[in-house]
Amino acid sequence: MENVGAIITGSSRGIGRATAVRLAQDGFKITVNYSQDEEGAKKTVRTVKDHGGEAFSVQADVSDQDATKKLVERTVEEYGDLGVLVNNAGFSHHATLDELRHEDWQKGIDVNLTGSFNCAKAAAPEMKELGWGRIVNISSLRAMTGSDHGSHYASSKAGLLGLTKSLALELAPEITVNAISPGYTRTPMTRESLEEKEDQITEKIPLDRVAESPEIAGVISFLVSHDGSYITGETINANGGIYMR
Ligand SMILES: NC(=O)c1ccc[n+]([C@@H]2O[C@H](COP(=O)([O-])OP(=O)(O)OC[C@H]3O[C@@H](n4cnc5c(N)ncnc54)[C@H](OP(=O)(O)O)[C@@H]3O)[C@@H](O)[C@H]2O)c1
Repeated sequence: MENVGAIITGSSRGIGRATAVRLAQDGFKITVNYSQDEEGAKKTVRTVKDHGGEAFSVQADVSDQDATKKLVERTVEEYGDLGVLVNNAGFSHHATLDELRHEDWQKGIDVNLTGSFNCAKAAAPEMKELGWGRIVNISSLRAMTGSDHGSHYASSKAGLLGLTKSLALELAPEITVNAISPGYTRTPMTRESLEEKEDQITEKIPLDRVAESPEIAGVISFLVSHDGSYITGETINANGGIYMR
């Protein structure tokens, strides 16, 4: 079901921006979301429109429950319905257990996990009303491998897989809920690491390169399309085969 409203959280840059553009090309009407990067959000809206799509932006910190309710309300006011939610907004920050402050731990959980719960809770009634819905949660390779420099990040992303399966059970049959676990993807989030050690990173990847954001957006597009209609509660790993090395 295209031509319905689609919220992509954290779409002021990176994977979120590529997803906004891709889903607009697929025919969805896009709500761009951000918490701080207003300029980035405006750029995403312009890019979607340049590709012939429809978009507007809403500032909302996904860890704030009231803000996510307003994000959904604004989308329904603008487009008349809401069919797709991509929980993409993410916070990452490098710190070992020794270095990690309690507030950083909490922020990782609040944005990456509770933020996805908040958005799904606000969006699900609208999808039920529509009789159709697709929720895609952006997890991470780190959900499976853990991380020696971001236990908050890995834990929040692993929690997201539990949330995915739980909501898939609760929201069936109208709404499918799936996760994607990207591996290394070239975005502002990974800019520093890739500048420092892209060669070392790609050595571990059978496909011999990191992903580009549109490749992750393409997997999201598949899950929300008719071709993804019989998949729910699943995680698709898009990591260039990194587990096999
Ligand atoms: N890049 C990778 O290699 C990789 C790998 C695995 C998984 N992922 C996941 O993929 C998703 C996108 O990552 P990315 O690499 O595109 O990251 P990015 O370039 O850092 O973009 C993150 C986006 O999230 C938004 N955001 C952050 N906190 C927010 C909040 N509290 N409320 C609303 N929006 C918020 C940011 O906008 P503001 O600055 O305005 O808040 C930005 O638009 C994340 O969930 C990330 O964990 C990425």
